[in-house]
Amino acid sequence: MKVAVIVGTRPELIKMGVLIKEVKKRNSHHLFIHSGQHYDYHMDGMVTDSFKLPPPDYHLGIGSGSHAATTAAIMQQLESILLKEKVDKVIVHGDTNTTLGASLAAAKLNIEVAHVEAGLRSNDRSMPEEVNRILVDHASSHLFCPTKAAVTNLQAEGITENVHLVGQTIVDAVSTILSADLYAVLDKFKLVKDGYFFLTVHRQENTDNIDRLRSILSAVTNLTQLYPHKIVIAMHPRTKKVLQQNDMFDTLAINSSILLLDPPPNFYETIHLQKHAKLVLTDSGGLQEESCILGTACITLRENTERPETLQCGANRLAGYKTNIILEAVATSLNAPVSWVHPYGTFGVSSTIVDILLES
Ligand code: UD1
Repeated sequence: MKVAVIVGTRPELIKMGVLIKEVKKRNSHHLFIHSGQHYDYHMDGMVTDSFKLPPPDYHLGIGSGSHAATTAAIMQQLESILLKEKVDKVIVHGDTNTTLGASLAAAKLNIEVAHVEAGLRSNDRSMPEEVNRILVDHASSHLFCPTKAAVTNLQAEGITENVHLVGQTIVDAVSTILSADLYAVLDKFKLVKDGYFFLTVHRQENTDNIDRLRSILSAVTNLTQLYPHKIVIAMHPRTKKVLQQNDMFDTLAINSSILLLDPPPNFYETIHLQKHAKLVLTDSGGLQEESCILGTACITLRENTERPETLQCGANRLAGYKTNIILEAVATSLNAPVSWVHPYGTFGVSSTIVDILLES
């Protein structure tokens, strides 16, 4: 049997890094294919370096573009590779345009699709990622769910066959990274444990609506006045572009209470920065999980989440984008106990997935 793992963005590389190495270890004829949706060194190469990944067998060089252009380009290029290489199964992850393009290309060739991180639902179809998740789950023959809630979501949509509750591969990624020195990162950025809030914003619904972005940044300015903590911001290229276009970037950069990390920190640094932060504020799905695993409280800058377990265990609070609600959530969170057991399983999720897939 020949399988191909197809990824293309920073979060996919992070959550599939251990799995890609595991697949290659089982047999080097399996393929690692990179769509090239993310291409800047700090979005791509830094992650492959962190996990010491082999170079991809194929790099599609897709780059940035509209949703349709990206998805279609991936489908078109992948089709000929899958045929030429006689691939039996394709493994995709999560909810990006790479995930959707790869799944559709494979499914239309009658090649089985295995979806890692299946069954997540925000129930908000205005998010491109929600549309991608739903379509990919329905095109997949093997569904690897991180939590029970994800299994239940699939059941509600009539998907019950070959559904496996395996845990979250981010646990493997975090465990790999945490084995290294914890405090060097704080020294590098001249920070102290619990002395800062760590913030990221990059989602289309926050960056492409300037009023929402202004409202979130107004909360940031207020936080610098209300609390002695520094605000450490990891700058995503999408957000940077919008801030610069609206003359908002320099205001952030000159605020002495804000530490702007541009380019954004690598995965190793991001994990350690979250671990030692007093709070994480984010609209990223991955950071909601990572902070929960690391034992740092999270405020989610969205109206909904496809990670409800993080809310239920007390690690996360939904705050949306409105300044006053974000400030209230921060105050509540700082007074709440930090004690929960994360719901994402234990190390070994990636190898379990590979075992199941190669035996099926
Ligand atoms: C994508 C995923 C999102 C994931 C995020 C992580 C989709 C629909 N969304 O969103 O789920 O959370 O990746 O980052 O696939 N850019 C660069 N350099 C890069 C990559 C992007 O400058 O290496 C800029 C470009 O201006 C690009 C923009 O970021 O147009 C958006 O990139 P894109 O991959 O379309 O979406 P993300 O916001 O990164």
